[in-house]
Amino acid sequence: MDIGFFGAGKMAEGILSAIADRKGVIMAEKVESRAVELAKRYGVVTTDDVKTVAATAKLIFLAVRPQDVDAVAAEVRPLLGARQTLVSIVAGKTLAKLRKAFGAKVNLIRVMPNLALRSKAGMCAICAAPKTPARDVKAVERILGGAGATVVLGEKDFDAVTALSGSGPAYFAYMEQAMAEGGVALGLKPAVARLLAEQTMYGTAKFLRESGMDLGEFIAGVCTKGGTTAAGMESLSNPQFKKIVAATLKGAARRSKELA
Ligand SMILES: NC(=O)c1ccc[n+]([C@@H]2O[C@H](COP(=O)([O-])OP(=O)(O)OC[C@H]3O[C@@H](n4cnc5c(N)ncnc54)[C@H](OP(=O)(O)O)[C@@H]3O)[C@@H](O)[C@H]2O)c1
Repeated sequence: MDIGFFGAGKMAEGILSAIADRKGVIMAEKVESRAVELAKRYGVVTTDDVKTVAATAKLIFLAVRPQDVDAVAAEVRPLLGARQTLVSIVAGKTLAKLRKAFGAKVNLIRVMPNLALRSKAGMCAICAAPKTPARDVKAVERILGGAGATVVLGEKDFDAVTALSGSGPAYFAYMEQAMAEGGVALGLKPAVARLLAEQTMYGTAKFLRESGMDLGEFIAGVCTKGGTTAAGMESLSNPQFKKIVAATLKGAARRSKELA
């Protein structure tokens, strides 16, 4: 077996669905019904024992909840060696903590994903511990690239990443909610207002990504003097708005540092 998983929950499934060739995949999952479901849906081998994965897979995704990491580590630590690479997607677990838990030999990669990975539109930041083979970092970039965008960064940037793309889906959903509520206040039905807000958020992100346009230029371009967007932006461009967004990210980054 080449690729393994400790934990086969929601995020693990997002990663699994991005793997083109699943013949060499083995997943350890405690919940039997979940293991059966994934084996059936994706044709992968499953087990209820993390040790089976540790004994066979070369590249292993650690995809359990943070509170379960130590229990997994205690079981697999004696089995993990230098020919293997552990790829942790666990929020807040630093490379130093992973090293302490999983031992000195195994190579380590830390990933900060976000939940859009489950819709193949995730944002994953990747950082590798020293001496992790470059081919394994490339393999992880390739796999996660199938579930969205990736960026390789130093671990010093991970609190900022956690604040921006890790926690970001909630912030954009909050903005969508505010837009939809604004639409309802103007007389739209809630479902219609949500569709309008969501598709506009999605379409704007898609256009900006595809065009690569400068954000300031884009905003200036759509704010025709005397037009409707300019009238709306009169309220939104209040400096308080950017201050609130900056404080939001700062608070999340501070919490990420505290939890690490
Ligand atoms: N969801 C997000 O948006 C997001 C974003 C960034 C990072 N992450 C990180 O991704 C990780 C996974 O999150 P998730 O939402 O996919 O969690 P999840 O759906 O709860 O999946 C974890 C699975 O692992 C199983 N498990 C726990 N201990 C095990 C063991 N010893 N052996 C085998 N299976 C075991 C759990 O079973 P039980 O339920 O029985 O414990 C559960 O089915 C978390 O560490 C989280 O920090 C998530």
